[in-house]
Amino acid sequence: MTRRSVLIGTGSALPKRAVSNAELAETVDTSDEWIVERSGIRQRYLADAQETTSSLGTAAAKAALAAAGLEGRDIDLIVLATATPDQTFPATATIVQDAIGANGGIAFDVAAVCSGFLYALGVADSMLRTGMASRALVIGSETFSRILDWEDRTTCVLFGDGAGAVVLEARETDDKTGAGILGSKLHADGAHNQLLYVDGGPSTTGEVGKVRMKGNQVFKHAVNNLADVLREVLELTETDAAAIDWVVPHQANARIIEGTARKLGLPMDRVIMTVDQHANTSAASVPLALDQAVRDGRIKPGQLVMLEAMGGGFTWGASLLRI
Ligand code: ACO
Repeated sequence: MTRRSVLIGTGSALPKRAVSNAELAETVDTSDEWIVERSGIRQRYLADAQETTSSLGTAAAKAALAAAGLEGRDIDLIVLATATPDQTFPATATIVQDAIGANGGIAFDVAAVCSGFLYALGVADSMLRTGMASRALVIGSETFSRILDWEDRTTCVLFGDGAGAVVLEARETDDKTGAGILGSKLHADGAHNQLLYVDGGPSTTGEVGKVRMKGNQVFKHAVNNLADVLREVLELTETDAAAIDWVVPHQANARIIEGTARKLGLPMDRVIMTVDQHANTSAASVPLALDQAVRDGRIKPGQLVMLEAMGGGFTWGASLLRI
């Protein structure tokens, strides 16, 4: 038997307002055709002034708790991944903690942009396996629209807002067939800061700043880094790619998702795609897609699921779990 972090509930939340490419093209010099062809995105959800990273994160957390049959007081660890916190400090995780009544446990944010959920999952998994906590909420939540430059058509059409959450519980499970996180790999390479960054921050400009991205250069790194880290996790867990039931990738671009799947020889009918509906929701994209596929019945207990993401930093990572 092995102590593992077992996924026992998922949840997600989206802002009320969906904005189609056509609607965006009324104010941005772009077209539905360009956005769909280059990225696969058809619409995104955009938060209004009342919808915040903590409110979306709280709604996703409550949905995940309900799915697990638990209440806030049952949770002793919250790790929230975001690049768009409510405040510079305290951590948005502490706001969610108070909102769900999990006061007293551990709560902090993780900043790894689009890979944030994978990083948060890795940290929570380590803390659960070492006994620092027994039940964790891992949340990815973003109001990315707040840091978009709506005059820059090369970035603003690609992103959206939302949140996703999972509940993990430390359990003793069977080495070979038991549920839980089987292995994860995380990486960062700070040399590529200028390809994808926000041009502001508390310690530099004193302003929040806006997203800047050299998209075509990020694209090339993304496909290679993701294929490499997926291979690493397969090797670490001694798993054949053919045994994977579902891949839940970061939803940045349909072409990156297809390119990565092709490199690994994985058929697209085993890949969860929500980029058309949600666009790139950064740290929220993987748990949002995961929750959708769990709720619509595609992802089932006993199945092997690979999560993967790449984002600003660069940061990237993957995690294999049995549901
Ligand atoms: N509408 C219409 N035309 C546009 C738009 C737009 N919204 N944006 C750019 N164009 C034009 C450009 O000006 C350019 O025109 P030109 O040839 O006359 O100069 C042309 O379209 C091609 O631009 P490219 O940038 O070369 O287009 P590309 O095929 O590379 O697609 C895209 C751009 C979609 C951004 C792609 O490169 C991509 O998805 N990159 C990766 C993004 C990503 O994965 N980011 C990582 C995660 S994000 C995070 O961590 C926060």
